[in-house]
Formats: sequence, C-alpha cells, structure tokens
Amino acid sequence: MTIKAVVFDAYGTLYDIQSVAAVTEEAFPGYGEFITQIWRIKQLEYTWLRSLMRRYQDFSVITRDSLAYAIRVLGLKHDAATFERIMDKYLHLDLYPDAVTALVAMKGRKLAILSNGSAGMLNALVRNSGLDRVLDATISIDSQKIFKPAPDAYTLIETTLGVPPAEVLFVSSNPWDACGAKSFGLNVAWIERVMPEAMALACVKTDMVAPLTMFKAIRTQMDELGIPPDYRIHALSELPELVARP
Ligand code: LAC
Repeated sequence: MTIKAVVFDAYGTLYDIQSVAAVTEEAFPGYGEFITQIWRIKQLEYTWLRSLMRRYQDFSVITRDSLAYAIRVLGLKHDAATFERIMDKYLHLDLYPDAVTALVAMKGRKLAILSNGSAGMLNALVRNSGLDRVLDATISIDSQKIFKPAPDAYTLIETTLGVPPAEVLFVSSNPWDACGAKSFGLNVAWIERVMPEAMALACVKTDMVAPLTMFKAIRTQMDELGIPPDYRIHALSELPELVARP
C-alpha cells in the first residue's frame, strides 16, 4: 500500500464531540448528556436531510439548528449568552489524546482534514488546537454545497492535495463516513472506539439506557451497508504502523 496522503474526518475522529458535555451540563444541570447526544444525532441528520433536499446550509447553521432542537425538545428555554457559550465549545473541542503524536509520526505524508465543518468553524478549531502546525490542509466540503457521504465531497481530496484516491488513506470513526469514503474509492481505516460488549454491559440489569449508551448504539457501530472499511483499528495511535506497511 503506497499511501501518499492521510486524510482525517474532524468531528468524532480527531476531535471528541463528547467534550461539549461539560458546557451543556453546566448550562442545563441534569440535562447535559441528553442534550449532547440529541444534538449530535440531529446535527448529522440535518446534513443528510439538507443534502437530499438540495437545501444546503453550512455546518455552523446546522450545528446551531440542531442545538436549538435538542434544547427545545426538552421544553427548556435558553438565553443568547448561554447558547453562544455552548456553540463556542465547538471551536474548542478536545483533541483525542493520541492525535498529535500519531500525526507527527506520519509527517512524511500529506496530512489533511476533510470535514463537513464550515471553513470558519474548522479553521478556528484547527488553530485553537494547534493542529495547523502539523496539517498540510484543512478541507471543508462547503465549496461542494453537499455533505459527506456524498461522493462530490470526497473529490475535494484529490483536487486539493493532488493525490489520487488509490494513494490516500481516509480515517474516520463515523461509520457512515467510512462507508461513504470506501464507496467513493478511498482506502479507509475506521476507528472503532466503542466495543459492542461494552454497550451490552451498559444495558444489562437496567431498564434505563443512558443517552450516551443509546448514542453509541446508533452512531458508533459499523452500519449494515455492505461497504466494510479496509482497516478496523481502535485508536489513532495504530495509524503510523498501518501506513508504514509495504
Ligand atoms: C465531520 C463530521 C461531521 O465531517 O464527521 O468532521
């Protein structure tokens, strides 16, 4: 495998979208986890619905709208300052702890992000986290006016980096994104961070399933689409050895 570029999904892959839970819980004590999970589920749904309806709005609009939904569906009210404080966290999400080390270890190759995020959100997040020092490019799908997993979104890798799909390893923890990238023709490493056994354990002996457990069941397990990834790994730290294979 001659990999000349390693391209990453951003939210959920390099950055932990669960890290918004700190601010949602502080803003709405007792509802933080529920809001965090409904927010992400609806955020992704809105990217798919808007793509199918050809009613594109950028990811900052979708992230605002899905947060408003998550708050409203609980019958909660919010003031502008609270809403903006929560939204600001999306520009300061926690990097996964092994992200920088893994990226630096692959410096010999072109390193980039391809994300549904709007250019403004992504550039701020990458700058705030210092990843601008190790990435060669941060690519937003904005110019295509359609979200991943639409094939048009993945064409931006070659047009931006000049590397053909056969020489690119695309990395995502989002199963729908891994399937979309594989369907497009990229080499794909899917990061399976949640093991089914862990979820089964969280459900057993209780009639209450925590919102996070439900989220994990809906958004972290490989989908039944018949488009499996080339590689199934469990952490970003496994990538340097994977791309070094002949
Ligand atoms: C991304 C998330 C939405 O594209 O997967 O970064």
